[in-house]
Amino acid sequence: MRRVKNLYTRAKGTLKNGLLQATMGFAGTECLKARELYLNTNQVYLAYHPDSHCDYASHPEFGELLARFTAFNLSNNGGDIPRLWSLILNIKQILNEGIEGDFAELGVWRGNTAAVLAYYAQASGRRVFLFDTYEGFKKKDLVGVDANKKTEFADTSMEMVRGVVGIERRQCHYVKGHFPGSILDEHQRSMYAVVSLDCDLYEPMKAGLDFFYPRMSKGGVLFLHDYSSLHWDGAKKAIDELCCKAGEFVILLPDKSGSAFLRKTK
Ligand SMILES: C[S@@+](CC[C@H](N)C(=O)[O-])C[C@H]1O[C@@H](n2cnc3c(N)ncnc32)[C@H](O)[C@@H]1O
Repeated sequence: MRRVKNLYTRAKGTLKNGLLQATMGFAGTECLKARELYLNTNQVYLAYHPDSHCDYASHPEFGELLARFTAFNLSNNGGDIPRLWSLILNIKQILNEGIEGDFAELGVWRGNTAAVLAYYAQASGRRVFLFDTYEGFKKKDLVGVDANKKTEFADTSMEMVRGVVGIERRQCHYVKGHFPGSILDEHQRSMYAVVSLDCDLYEPMKAGLDFFYPRMSKGGVLFLHDYSSLHWDGAKKAIDELCCKAGEFVILLPDKSGSAFLRKTK
């Protein structure tokens, strides 16, 4: 009985802290939306932070990264803390293993995940290339399996992204334009240790995998968003094709939008 009570007290504390942290720096309707999700729907469940954080305080950067991860995106990312933890833990693993290479993201939008990459890129003296149109989807990508999709993600700006990522992150190279047309020689010559592909559609996802996979160091990690969400068939199709061609396998995460990870084994 005492054990159950302790668990309940710990859970209540975690929920309260989670809400406090998730709403840190935000007010008004965003807070209400998050609270509503917590209280009134079956979309959420309570989860602990990792022991390495709670019992060993191994991730003092978590508070800053949570604020950046949820900035201007609280209603979605405020409830997707497992995704944040998976980025933090796996990037730190790559750094601890000494896997060489730069970092990159294709699909930045407002910079929430880019901020996490940029933090560790700066801490480890690596560059991070952030590829996006910074104007949302382009019509030429809305073909084939994605023909029924609408243009989205135009509601951002370079100023907003720089603010979310942090202007102090000097390792960041913002690469504005339609991918793969935006690739330059210096991107071709780089090797990569950490790459996040979060561009939703088949055409850019395929182009991203074709470009980055051969340039990943052995052991490097690809974060592949939306793989099992069922919202983005094109992203899944491109990932399945790459796995089939390269003889690689994904691991699925139980986060909100069905991320998959792949560590290059060859
Ligand atoms: C889901 S959003 C990225 C979200 C971001 N990674 C995060 O977690 O906060 C998808 C992004 O992919 C970008 N994108 C899609 N196709 C692209 C292309 N061909 N070239 C460049 N950017 C593209 C869009 O502009 C949009 O910003």
